[in-house]
Amino acid sequence: MHIDHYAVIGNPIAHSKSPQIHTHFAEQTVQDMDYVRLLAPLDGFQQTVFDFHTTGGRGLNVTVPFKLEAYQLADIISPRAQRAGAVNTLIFHPDGRIEGDNTDGIGLVRDLLYHHVTLQDADILILGAGGAVRGVLAPLLSEHPASLVIANRTADKAVQLAQDFSDLCAPRTRLHGCGYADLSGQTFDIIVNGTSASLSGELPPLPDDLLKPGGLAYDMAYGSEPTAFQRWAQAHGASLALDGLGMLIEQAAESFYLWRGIRPDTQTLRISMR
Ligand code: ATR
Repeated sequence: MHIDHYAVIGNPIAHSKSPQIHTHFAEQTVQDMDYVRLLAPLDGFQQTVFDFHTTGGRGLNVTVPFKLEAYQLADIISPRAQRAGAVNTLIFHPDGRIEGDNTDGIGLVRDLLYHHVTLQDADILILGAGGAVRGVLAPLLSEHPASLVIANRTADKAVQLAQDFSDLCAPRTRLHGCGYADLSGQTFDIIVNGTSASLSGELPPLPDDLLKPGGLAYDMAYGSEPTAFQRWAQAHGASLALDGLGMLIEQAAESFYLWRGIRPDTQTLRISMR
């Protein structure tokens, strides 16, 4: 029987939950495929991709630290990957060309919508101005929030990022970049943490009354325990403080759709992975 090969490539990669997710999707939709972890040397991303491709690989998910290299390697870049400036999904076309796409941003928006979070006309704050945040700005703006404020430790990067996306901003949306100190006196319906601070158990310096009563907090990171940001949100009046596991599942579902043309159901996986 012919089997199509897929993998997630990164360094480190042992922790990745992607094989569990895609194997579930493949079983659910009855696809003849396998999906493994692929560890690439830090200086050997391109070679590892080409080797995988020539031995029958059909597609890859790309994770830390290779999303920019994947962008450079791809022959075709989707518009949303262009906007994100990074590639998390590689599709190997039958004609030999490699296409780069990015499903992270749509993953976040789908997870928020799954939790019945209204983005339209909401005041949204996003913390951080690195690659992870760049990847989610376009899909968030397309939901027409009332405001989208980007706050970052290095304020200039947030200001620049807001400028870079101003052309996607509807007239009624206020898009603004600033430092954390500038947040005092402002309140938000939704705060999304896109900094890498969670990974080291740290938290950006946030004013106490930043979240509107009953507001929602979302950490794009996830772990076996609630992150520092989730704990902060719970202590500051959040109605819901989500981690990024749902986003991971939804971005995977979108990658799966790009490869197989079938949209898997994410509901059962959400329950079994909790
Ligand atoms: P990623 O690809 O995960 O976005 P990145 O591009 O290196 O990684 O961006 C990391 C983000 O987390 C940046 O916004 C960074 O702030 P600076 O631009 O000021 O460096 C932010 N960050 C990392 N550690 C942080 C911390 N301890 N407190 C606040 N922000 C932090």
